[in-house]
Amino acid sequence: MEETMSMRSHGDGTATLSERERRPAAWAQDAAAVIMRRCDELAAFSDMPSGIERLYLSPEMSRAYELTAGWMREAGMDVHVDPAGNLVGRVEGREPGLPALILGSHLDSVPDAGRYDGILGVVSSVAVVRSLVREGMSGRLPFALEVVAFGDEEGARFGATLLGSYALAGGWKDEWLDLRDAAGTSMRQAFLDFGLDPDRVGEAALDRSQAVGYLELHIEQGPILEQRDRALSSVSSIAAASRYMVTIEGESRHIATPYDLRRDALTAAAEMIQAVDSISREAGTRANVGEISAEPGGVNVIAGRTVFSLDVRAGTDSDRDEVFDAIWRAFDGIAERRRVMVSHRLIHTADAVVCDADLRACIEEGVEQAEGKPAFGLVSFPGHDGMAVAELLPIAMLYVRCRGGISHSPDEAVREADVAYGVDAFHRAVLSVAKRMTVAEPRVVSSTE
Ligand code: CO
Repeated sequence: MEETMSMRSHGDGTATLSERERRPAAWAQDAAAVIMRRCDELAAFSDMPSGIERLYLSPEMSRAYELTAGWMREAGMDVHVDPAGNLVGRVEGREPGLPALILGSHLDSVPDAGRYDGILGVVSSVAVVRSLVREGMSGRLPFALEVVAFGDEEGARFGATLLGSYALAGGWKDEWLDLRDAAGTSMRQAFLDFGLDPDRVGEAALDRSQAVGYLELHIEQGPILEQRDRALSSVSSIAAASRYMVTIEGESRHIATPYDLRRDALTAAAEMIQAVDSISREAGTRANVGEISAEPGGVNVIAGRTVFSLDVRAGTDSDRDEVFDAIWRAFDGIAERRRVMVSHRLIHTADAVVCDADLRACIEEGVEQAEGKPAFGLVSFPGHDGMAVAELLPIAMLYVRCRGGISHSPDEAVREADVAYGVDAFHRAVLSVAKRMTVAEPRVVSSTE
């Protein structure tokens, strides 16, 4: 309706391309209404008495799968649960058995979660496949389409994260089966309870020849799209992350100690935390000190020992490493001036995952056509299933604006209009991948012809 109005407002039919394309496709607006309703329906499956918590291999996850599998079948897909407990729907391309373009995200959640992180990507992917099937397009594609709803991304049940996507990408570790949840249930038992064989989880791994790539639609979980007044963006990379525990050794003494004799581990930590903040701000990276302890912990005792966590994320490995170098230089200077010893221990590191240039171009083509505005890429500071999948396949992601950048909270919210743009863009991205593949395929000329 608004489209007609904006065209008419020109009177002479000279509406610009961007004005004509500002509205998402009509089918996408209808699909968005269905998607919003389905996200609400899935939110009812919770392992918590109030609020949303859906855990890997839980009975509530099983119920969520049943509902989602019904939607997948209605969209024209064959559905199965893979040996790692991921829900998979598939529709064949122009011939059976072609490698798949995988559209995925996760159905598990953190405790007291919102209803869109992961879920929106799964439900939107089903809508895109449904639309391609209805249009008769799916049977002309040079790939099969698979929607994968990962059973674990957040790691909320067993601590280890990205379990579903690591299994798909061939990175499953059998030692994870011995992890236990808060109730003491081992993952091995959880697989049995879910009706799966824990000794066959590794069989969920895809062979590289079975898939052409992986696309994921996800809420931004940050405020940049809102600040730029945009519904969508691509993701340029998923951030490199490293976590350290930093220890400062000083000397515990009475508060009466004059300043020039103090070796205060806590004031040194305070200064170091300030340095982390300013160095990371300056570099455009993200850093956080979220945990700190001081010993001996007396109100009138100068702290002799302080331990704090440090998490730094950056768009590239080299940016992260440069920021760390700058932080360690600052720490050394502070430690020298305050006459304390500082040391650090690496506890986790993950390199940045750069989205595939071709698949990202397809996502951006979709964004430009759906929104009628130039596309741009954002660094994803949260981790995603794509990080694990990227060990096997080229990946790209589509971000959809969320309110206030809030996520992992019941206050998570998206606008239905943005979901319509998102599903429109995602649908166009799939067709764009098909077009590029068709162009890229060498023409095989049979000598008998
Ligand atoms: Co997520």
